[in-house]
Parts: sequence; C-alpha cells; structure tokens
Amino acid sequence: MAAAAAFALTTTLLIVGSYAVTTLKVDDDKPLQFTYSGDMGPDRWAALNPNFSLCAKGKSQSPIDIVTAQAVVNPKLKPLVREYNSVDVTLVDYKFTVGIEYPNHTGGIIFDGKKYSFKQMHWHSPSEHRINGRRFAAELHMVHVADDGQIAVVATLYKYGRPDPLLASIYSKLNEMAVRVGSEEKSPAIPFGPFHPPEIRRTPKKYYRYVGSFSAPPCTENIPYIVLAEELSISEEQVQALKGPLDMRCKNNARPSQPTNGRPVEAYEDHH
Ligand SMILES: *[C@@H]1O[C@H](CO)[C@@H](O)[C@H](O)[C@H]1NC(C)=O
Ligand SMILES: *[C@@H]1O[C@H](CO)[C@@H](O)[C@H](O)[C@H]1NC(C)=O
Repeated sequence: MAAAAAFALTTTLLIVGSYAVTTLKVDDDKPLQFTYSGDMGPDRWAALNPNFSLCAKGKSQSPIDIVTAQAVVNPKLKPLVREYNSVDVTLVDYKFTVGIEYPNHTGGIIFDGKKYSFKQMHWHSPSEHRINGRRFAAELHMVHVADDGQIAVVATLYKYGRPDPLLASIYSKLNEMAVRVGSEEKSPAIPFGPFHPPEIRRTPKKYYRYVGSFSAPPCTENIPYIVLAEELSISEEQVQALKGPLDMRCKNNARPSQPTNGRPVEAYEDHH
C-alpha cells in the first residue's frame, strides 16, 4: 500500500510541470485603461472608470505590507497542495504586465479544502507585497479560479540573485516581445518550449494568507492571497526582460501598499 502510494506520487511529480509555451500574444488592439504612473496612475484609477470605484472605496485592497510579528500562526491552516499538469500555454503581453495563460485542466491548488484551477500567471516589478516594509525585486502572481468563480492568488516574491529557471526558459521570448512592441509588428503564434518550472509546484513550508483584492483595476475584492514566505531569486537582466514589453508608464508595475483596515494576516508553518 505504502509502496503503491509512493509510486503514484512519483509518477505525478514526473508528469506535472512540463508544458510548452506555444503562442505569443500582444494585446495590441485594446488601449490601456490604466497605468502605473502619470495621469492614469494608481491614485487616479477610481476616477478613470466607474467600474474601478473599489480601487478608492474598497476597504480590503491589495497589496499590503505584511508585518510578520502581527501574522498569527493558525495551526488549522493546511499545507498548500499544488498540482499542475503538462499543457500548452500562451505568453501574453498585456502592456501593463506580461503573463502566461493556461488552458482548462491545467491542474491547480487545494487551499482551505477548496479546489481552484490554475488560469494565469503574471509578474510585477518591483514587488507589490512588502514584508516588514521591505520591497522585493519582483513578484509572481499565480491566479486560480474555483468552479463557483471564487479567485485565489498565490504570490511569490523574488530577491536579486542568481537567475530564476522559470524566467530563464522564457527570457528570449520576452526580449522578442519587446522588439515586436517597438516595431509595431503584429504577433503571430510562435511555438516554443518545453517549459519545466519546478518551483511553482513545490509545497511551501510557510505562507501568509489574508483576504485582499485584484491589485489592478477593477480592484475586485474578496480574493484570498497566499503569499509564500520563501523567496525565489531573479537576476537584474530578468527583471529588465519582464519590463521590456511593457508600456512606458507601466515599467514599474507595482501598486503602492494599501491599508489593512484591521484585516488579519495568518501564517501557516510546516513543523515537520
Ligand atoms: C463597466 O463594466 C460593464 C460590465 O462589464 C461594461 O459593460 C461597461 O462597459 C463598463 N463601463 C465602462 C465605462 O467601461
Ligand atoms: C474552459 O472553462 C470555462 C469555464 O468553465 C468555459 O467557459 C470554457 O468554455 C472552457 N474552455 C474550453 C476550451 O473548454
């Protein structure tokens, strides 16, 4: 029984996390609805569109500064289960961030006993969340959606250091995107891959959780965030590559910290 379970686990680990980026997409046709500087910057988001009113009126917005001394360890929190399947994905330049879109049946997470499917991941640089006031080099948001429409975001912080393997595998495509944006050339589908990101499926030993919002308009609330305590590392070239395809006003695509308004931040710790 134990041997069979161990075998099943090994097989799962071998098949998850191998996928190919098959398409490169630039959202050329839609003008930006908001930016991160200038007269469409974060302070003005709510004024730009009535649908963005929560960006100013919301009481549980993201990102926040996580004060670790105030994050209460909740022994009832469960490990974050992450299982992602082998799929073909699309690298997308949204102009305010670059991301990777996933098809259905990519797998996902089990969080708080609820299953969420993985839909998209994208990057912010510098980081949006802070830990004890400290801002990091960059932040990865992995967006998951449950069958009932509930969204949950897994956030991973990067500090400057050696290159991140996941970003290394899309580095040349990010540079290619930046060149295309400059040349105004439309982007056809470009096959590339495979793509093996082991760090996105590791079960974290420690995470913080709180309930926040989309950190960009429309700033929709009631979004649980799982912020992993262990940072990854990223090189300066990789941070520049993430900024390359973005609009000039969105090169630093991190929203300022939002008030917590008494929201609790809980911590999960694996003591095994
Ligand atoms: C607000 O959102 C609704 C629903 O998505 C949409 O139909 C409408 O056009 C949006 N309003 C503006 C001003 O963008
Ligand atoms: C993916 O799932 C969504 C929501 O369940 C559904 O609307 C959509 O049609 C699905 N797409 C494909 C390609 O099956």
